[in-house]
Amino acid sequence: MKRLLIIKTAILILFVLAYSVWSASPRPAAAQNGMVVSSEPIAAGIGLQILQDGGNAADAAIAVAAALNVTEGCNSGMGGGCFILIYWSETGQVFAIDGRERASINAHRNLYINSADSTVIPGLSTEGVTAVATPGEPAALAMIAKKWGKHPWKKLIEPAAALADTGFILSRTYAERLIYSRERLYQYPSSREIFFPGNDTLPYGFGDRLVQKDLAKFLKKLSKQGIDWFYNGGFSKTLSDYITENGGYLTADDLKTYKAVQRQPIRGSFRGYDIYSMPPPSSGGIHVVQILEMLEPFYLRYWEPGSSEPLHIIIESMKRAFADRAYYLGDPDFVDIPLDGLLDSTYLADHRSTIKPHQASNIPGAGILPARESSETTHFSIIDSKGNMVAVTASLNTSFGSAVILPGWGLLLNNHMDDFSLQPGAPNYYGLVGSEANAIEPGKRPLSSMSPTIVLKDSKPAGIFGSPGGPKIITTVVQTFLNIVEFGMDVQQAVDFPRVHHQWKPDVVFVEDGIPTDVLVNLQAKGHRIYQAGLWSSAQCIWIDPETGLITGGTDSRSEGIAAGY
Ligand code: DON
Repeated sequence: MKRLLIIKTAILILFVLAYSVWSASPRPAAAQNGMVVSSEPIAAGIGLQILQDGGNAADAAIAVAAALNVTEGCNSGMGGGCFILIYWSETGQVFAIDGRERASINAHRNLYINSADSTVIPGLSTEGVTAVATPGEPAALAMIAKKWGKHPWKKLIEPAAALADTGFILSRTYAERLIYSRERLYQYPSSREIFFPGNDTLPYGFGDRLVQKDLAKFLKKLSKQGIDWFYNGGFSKTLSDYITENGGYLTADDLKTYKAVQRQPIRGSFRGYDIYSMPPPSSGGIHVVQILEMLEPFYLRYWEPGSSEPLHIIIESMKRAFADRAYYLGDPDFVDIPLDGLLDSTYLADHRSTIKPHQASNIPGAGILPARESSETTHFSIIDSKGNMVAVTASLNTSFGSAVILPGWGLLLNNHMDDFSLQPGAPNYYGLVGSEANAIEPGKRPLSSMSPTIVLKDSKPAGIFGSPGGPKIITTVVQTFLNIVEFGMDVQQAVDFPRVHHQWKPDVVFVEDGIPTDVLVNLQAKGHRIYQAGLWSSAQCIWIDPETGLITGGTDSRSEGIAAGY
């Protein structure tokens, strides 16, 4: 009897330990009419206001994206790119908008290669104007404004301009980013001027007011003159002159010929849910669907969430998807991606059949290479009172992008050239490798992992998912979705639950803090190499109860966001 009591107590303690992370999550925010979930509360508030003023989800998305250029300018903005997924309730269709940056028409395969020894020249694709690709976010936002927006463009950009003009109080996250990137930013006088008070070598800190008058001027002009001014007017000349005069590649012609592209979303299914996600040039949609469809027959729900058995199978599926990523994917306007093959059920069944239940597989070619943690980039999810849904993931790539602010205009410029496989086989900032499919070509878009995802059930809104995190975006979206649909968590618990990540190369399982030691030991016993990597990503998700229509929002406790509904 006593022994039984001890065993029962031990089980209870283990149960409490295993669940402590997500049981500590607050309840998800709930709303009846509409919701904005973002990692930055001021921008979310602006989006919510647009919804309450009768704007739709597309209107709110434009306003939130513009506001994030101000309040979370280290992550995304008009100097970068974005991917947008839209579900339009009137027609029941899902659309994918590609606002990915594009390489200059003067770029070429060996742009960043040292001809003497064929190695990548460090820094050229990540720092300064040489790293900048043609921005796509303004074009993508203008496209959704034109196709779906109700409010005038001006009204949607103006709140951001006002915010830049009066300033806002720096959050802890933004202040930490400034400290982390201070040396990169300090070297460019135009960036120094904005982020460093006086001649101080320390940037503005937590609680300081960051005023961005030049950015306010830029946003005001953009609000009045629209994107023609950006791509084919006064601004395009200023931007391209600055870049070319300083040794970069982007020209006025690159801006003039840039177009956002409407593409067919990737579609998959899991337990009766229809999943729509971003197609190439993002790898996101293909691999989210590949991983989920590989996993479906395993019935992971029979195990405890976060225990080593389901984690092992999830990790093995990730590995296989990322090996495909490295080999096949690139810009679909330049390379033939075997889309049907990669998503074919027999192909995925083949992948699945090689997963051994008790042993980590060695996928040829995977080696140990460094990879970094980060949650730059931003994702936000919006639903309006008509059930229209918008998922946006937007980015400058790494924190503060190229670290260059366009003098006089306050606009941070991206460093998305680094997402190409600069030298096929050599890892990029995120430790990702790629093949010739993602090599630089003139006018090509670099491969991405951004995965804005929309889920329907019986043709009705069910969920919106997305996150920053480089390659970890894909695995974050997969796990957040599984946590709800397979493991029965609410959306807040789902985004908070500790995550794992495998990207084929390096051959290690990245594990977050909060995964119990016995689980790690069990994974090691199966042959996995464990790398404890702190915390990553910042999922900003919405889940809708199919029966009641109740909207619930989960904002990642790893960042300082908000789920704001009404
Ligand atoms: O497009 C991509 O996949 C990356 N440039 C996104 C960068 C990112 O998420 C940075 N945050 N960790």
